[in-house]
Amino acid sequence: MARCAATPTNGSAHKAAASPASRAKMTVPDVVRTKAAGRRISMLTAYDASFARILDECGIDILLVGDSLGMVIQGLDSTLPVTLDEMVYHTRMVTRGSHYALVVGDMPFLSYQVSVSEAVANAGRLVKEGGAEAVKLEGGLTMARTVEAITTIDIPVMGHIGLTPQSVHRMGGFRVQGRRHGKGPGNRERLLDDARAIEAAGAFAVVLEGIPLDLAEEITAAVAIPTIGIGAGPGCNGQVLVMHDLLGFSERTPKFARRFADLRAEISRAVRTYIEEVGAGTFPSDAESYHSIEPVSRSAKKEQRGHNGVQPSRARA
Ligand code: KIV
Repeated sequence: MARCAATPTNGSAHKAAASPASRAKMTVPDVVRTKAAGRRISMLTAYDASFARILDECGIDILLVGDSLGMVIQGLDSTLPVTLDEMVYHTRMVTRGSHYALVVGDMPFLSYQVSVSEAVANAGRLVKEGGAEAVKLEGGLTMARTVEAITTIDIPVMGHIGLTPQSVHRMGGFRVQGRRHGKGPGNRERLLDDARAIEAAGAFAVVLEGIPLDLAEEITAAVAIPTIGIGAGPGCNGQVLVMHDLLGFSERTPKFARRFADLRAEISRAVRTYIEEVGAGTFPSDAESYHSIEPVSRSAKKEQRGHNGVQPSRARA
């Protein structure tokens, strides 16, 4: 797989390889400052250390350990069954693989909706056990008290409004929100109130998902915190994509995403070639095999041939 920089093989080499770029660690205050500085934020999901390392080396600002892992990693058709333990586990892997990006851990369904005190304790688990530097939760007005309580103990919160996947049943599917006027959940004026409410509650940024581009622009102008869009047009202060959509792992690419690579086709090609080469006996080659240090006796070679019918590798002299 292509990498963005020299490919280090261990932690210390990684730090040495990345330092010439003199890249500073991304922090929550840095993210907040980007809006006034007019710099767009890049955010991607990551679910394990190996991908986190590659995205981090490329210079991504924020790695989101999204509960979308339920759909792209676990094969579920919604994010609802994802547990907090699973989120902690994946967040730990991502923090292990990243050095520069800000790591945000997603709070899964029912880890913050039942009570404010449970929400605070569960946000704490993502930080304490997972190593997250901030948490993300879905909802606006109704979650303002929860956002406030979590930020009061200095855990930074990223909001998420619009098409909130944990509300799939209320929305009647994964449907674009904010297309109609009104103050009801998912309506245009309500989404403006949602954004203002979570900003007032102390959120440091907000994800705008699946809303018309003009509404995203209006929200972006209405709040001082950065907006990060997914399916919300180009007028946000940053963009986020699910890594699988960007890399072309998914069978179907949603309208709002762009396949920057077609790794699904590339992986299929590699695996088919592997199957063919194993079948043909051309993998592994002699160069890809280990060789005995001691010469192998003729009788041992003969015996081996008798066992598997395959010519043993030539021992190195
Ligand atoms: O879970 C996730 O990946 C997300 C992004 C789509 C914003 O919430």
